[in-house]
Amino acid sequence: MNHNNLLNEFESKFGNGGDIRGYFTPGRVNLIGEYTDFNGGYVFPCGLTMGTYMIARKRADRKLNMYSMNFEKKGVVQSSLDEFMQGSEKNWTMYSKGVMWAFEEKGYQLDLGYDFLVYGNIPNGSGLSSSASLEVLTGIMLKDMNTTKSIENKNDVNGIQNLSLQDIALIGQFAENKYVGVNCGIMDQFAVAMAKKDQAIFLDTNNLSFKYVPVKLGNHKIVISSSNKKRSLADSKYNERRSECEKALVLLQTKKDVSCLCELTVADFNEIKDVIEDDVLLRRAKHTIYENERTKNAVTALENNNIEEFGNLMKDSHRSLRDDFEVTGIELDLLVEEAVKCEGVVGSRMTGAGFGGCTVSIVRDDCIDSFIEQVGRVYEEKIGYCADFYVAGVGDGAHKIDLEEAAHYDE
Ligand code: GLA
Repeated sequence: MNHNNLLNEFESKFGNGGDIRGYFTPGRVNLIGEYTDFNGGYVFPCGLTMGTYMIARKRADRKLNMYSMNFEKKGVVQSSLDEFMQGSEKNWTMYSKGVMWAFEEKGYQLDLGYDFLVYGNIPNGSGLSSSASLEVLTGIMLKDMNTTKSIENKNDVNGIQNLSLQDIALIGQFAENKYVGVNCGIMDQFAVAMAKKDQAIFLDTNNLSFKYVPVKLGNHKIVISSSNKKRSLADSKYNERRSECEKALVLLQTKKDVSCLCELTVADFNEIKDVIEDDVLLRRAKHTIYENERTKNAVTALENNNIEEFGNLMKDSHRSLRDDFEVTGIELDLLVEEAVKCEGVVGSRMTGAGFGGCTVSIVRDDCIDSFIEQVGRVYEEKIGYCADFYVAGVGDGAHKIDLEEAAHYDE
């Protein structure tokens, strides 16, 4: 992306001059550990080189002028810092406004409004966290540009400038939960904020301890296949899965003193699972607890350069998400089914919330073209429209971008 084009576009919408700054946050792909993050379990996502850019300038009043190059037809959406109502209109600006609302809710007062332009090259609604990317992007912009009294007072531990990237991720999650209305876990915002080039994040969502693990795949790459099925049901079904997990936990707690599903090992679970009579709840809990164990094992496999094992665990993960957690659907199942038939594929699974969106596959370099050809052809034949494929670059997390350089290119 040429930062100059973004700057020109910004200036054509909002005029030039003043202190104009730029920011970037990636999308993310989760390699394994699905639907564990609101159950206190492990996840293993990495940042992408695709992501979201923001060019912003502070205003002298409390107005907000927001423009997305991805939603040109909407034009400049106008609002103001005094207009935040919970659950306001549903368009792309709710993610940015939600974060501003969340800053205020958490006691970080915003003084003045902004003009900002956003451009993202993550396919929207594809399960690659375009929304978390925009939330964290807004958060780092607010931290960088806001100058409320609490900032001037350096001793004020609550000042915006003392917010860490992790704090901003948590504020993003809060906005998503309470403003947007999706009861997501912390994985996406955390990954987008904290990602590191060529590394995945092995995160314990129970206490946010984490380590970076090099994504060493030898002569293989991560290939993302997008089903191009919009995840219209995702939000309501997502919340439903979360409450099913909560119900299962309450039952299991009558047998064992745990605070979340992922505190149970597979062995613990098998010992006490009969307390859950409802088959649906039983399968939801089973997926979660087995997936947590798979995630730990997958990280060990990757650290030991055993990508075959890593791939097998990805396949198991998909089966469990399909049969026990029931969040896949025919499009994602077909993408995985066809992927694993292709030469050079060590593993494949759905990634993110599911119900549409993307799969992630590990494919040998010399087989990527034939993989895309074969999976793409069968998908179009059976589903009736095309899938898209991306060879993923593993990129850095949230950061400022340099608008000074005449023409700076990155992906
Ligand atoms: C979405 C949510 C995450 C996580 C995944 C499923 O991406 O935002 O918090 O729950 O689904 O693993």
